[in-house]
Amino acid sequence: MLGLEGKVIFVSGGNRGIGAAIVNLLEEMGAKVAYNYRSGKGEKGTGYVANVTDPEEMTQLMAQIEQDLGPIYGVVCNAGITRDALATKLTTSDWNEVVDTNLTGVWNTIQPNLAGMYERKEGSVVLVSSIVGERGNIGQINYAATKGAVIAMAKTLAQEGARYKVRANVVAPGFIETDMTKPIPEPVKEKIYAQIPMRRFGKPEEIAWAVVYMLSPVASSFVTGHVLSVNGGHYM
Ligand SMILES: NC(=O)c1ccc[n+]([C@@H]2O[C@H](COP(=O)([O-])OP(=O)(O)OC[C@H]3O[C@@H](n4cnc5c(N)ncnc54)[C@H](O)[C@@H]3O)[C@@H](O)[C@H]2O)c1
Repeated sequence: MLGLEGKVIFVSGGNRGIGAAIVNLLEEMGAKVAYNYRSGKGEKGTGYVANVTDPEEMTQLMAQIEQDLGPIYGVVCNAGITRDALATKLTTSDWNEVVDTNLTGVWNTIQPNLAGMYERKEGSVVLVSSIVGERGNIGQINYAATKGAVIAMAKTLAQEGARYKVRANVVAPGFIETDMTKPIPEPVKEKIYAQIPMRRFGKPEEIAWAVVYMLSPVASSFVTGHVLSVNGGHYM
């Protein structure tokens, strides 16, 4: 129905949290899914250990996936980290680590795929940003900068890729229940819930549906350069 049956789709950071929900839903939609993760355990046989901060590793990984599964149609840049501190206290090393993973890592993930997608004249790129990239957040200057930057990347890719029938979009989650938000202390969570009209954090599956929509050549064929916010109404 969504035109994703048999399509090869790569998801970065697909072994847990939002990434794992995207992988699972894409598999339900009949896609051939491959994913990477930094370390630890993959849940399924299609996972590869590869670091998004390493351009050579990512180039080799994409070649391996194309050999194993076929030409890549969709790329979902989901891998991301936080290293939070107020701007007055943030270390340069924590600035660099977040930029290397969340921004350069996105570049390293899409770059090896662009030429092939443009040549085949089909493809969909989805970058996972954040509500924090849209509105900033106290203690997250590094993270906010990277998540805002990927919106600019997608808008540029959308303009460059349109003539090759390759679309690029962003999904910007609000606060979602994953390992990333687990460390937020309960009293702080209560304050955040009070700001969210739906009064709760989202579930990874609720982000996965938005990503699947953006990947689908049927459902979103005329959508490119768009930011889809999935945040329970949390805009201020
Ligand atoms: N959880 C939230 O509230 C929330 C909100 C908005 C946006 N996001 C974004 O959604 C994405 C997924 O977040 P999550 O909550 O599922 O996080 P998570 O911590 O549960 O998972 C992060 C994933 O990224 C992978 N990863 C991290 N660094 C990597 C590296 N260098 N190389 C390869 N893989 C790497 C990890 O292996 C893991 O699979 C991130 O980009 C995050 O910024 C999350």
